Amino acid sequence: MVAHRVVSLTRKVPDLDKTCRFYRQLGLEETSRGTFATVLGGEQLFLSEAERPEVVEIHVGADDARDIADISGRLESLGVAVERSAASLAAVEPVSGVRVRVSVAERLPKEPPPSAPTSADRTDLVRREPVRPLRLGHVVVGCTDVERAKDFFIEGIGMRLSDYVIGGPFMRFETDHHNIVLLPAPMTLLHHTAWKVGSVDEVGYGGTQMIEGHPERHAWGLGRHGASANYFWYLKDPAGAFAEYYYSEMDDLADGPYFWDPAPGTGDLPVAVWASPALEEQPLVPEAMRAPILATGPGDR
Ligand SMILES: [Fe+2]
Repeated sequence: MVAHRVVSLTRKVPDLDKTCRFYRQLGLEETSRGTFATVLGGEQLFLSEAERPEVVEIHVGADDARDIADISGRLESLGVAVERSAASLAAVEPVSGVRVRVSVAERLPKEPPPSAPTSADRTDLVRREPVRPLRLGHVVVGCTDVERAKDFFIEGIGMRLSDYVIGGPFMRFETDHHNIVLLPAPMTLLHHTAWKVGSVDEVGYGGTQMIEGHPERHAWGLGRHGASANYFWYLKDPAGAFAEYYYSEMDDLADGPYFWDPAPGTGDLPVAVWASPALEEQPLVPEAMRAPILATGPGDR
């Protein structure tokens, strides 16, 4: 009886048409203008247009009203203002300025297992049709003080800490290795969203399809992460964030203590155990962090 998953992400993007086209091609279903659904998770991405990109809201699902009350009490004891109704709450994480909404949401059905081969040419296993992401797995937000922001999610929302990688806490609700990640950045920004697909084959096929005719979308992949052991392929979306296709057969962590107690500076895990060479020296640094920073500091977005 806890918060158990990321339900959705709400963003503002500068070029809505182009960004919508990108996420349609990523395989999400656009159910109405700027609203995108996955196969299992329903509507999980909401985009609207603004002059500058913005992470507006992370929506988190909990089991029942008692969870909402517990989370509300914990956030208030951290000194965070909470807007409450019986079935939901909303609070602004003070470092990043990102709103986190928690409401009662159904758990997702178990993902379909890979099918056994039934044809000689493996058309049943090897993707030859558009990839359809199963669900939004994790959201990665850059912010100016990851330690302070972490308290909101660990102490307030009740997430667990799985690992630190490149200075950022990787936090989980239950059995995924991470659902929300904070990375050090000079301003609040969306680093990436990660969309779970059905196999490593779909990661490779989806990535290949996305960059065909669009080499500018390619960021990094195919590869395999250290922490979480996810297979990954990162693509650049038109609004300055990355979208990751991922798959892992190791996502089912036990619903209990992790292997160790991670702390900043410990467990210096490699970002990738292996990966195809990246075109850029630092393939996962968002454009916004390469350009001169005009606004820095907590609250500036
Ligand atoms: Fe990721």
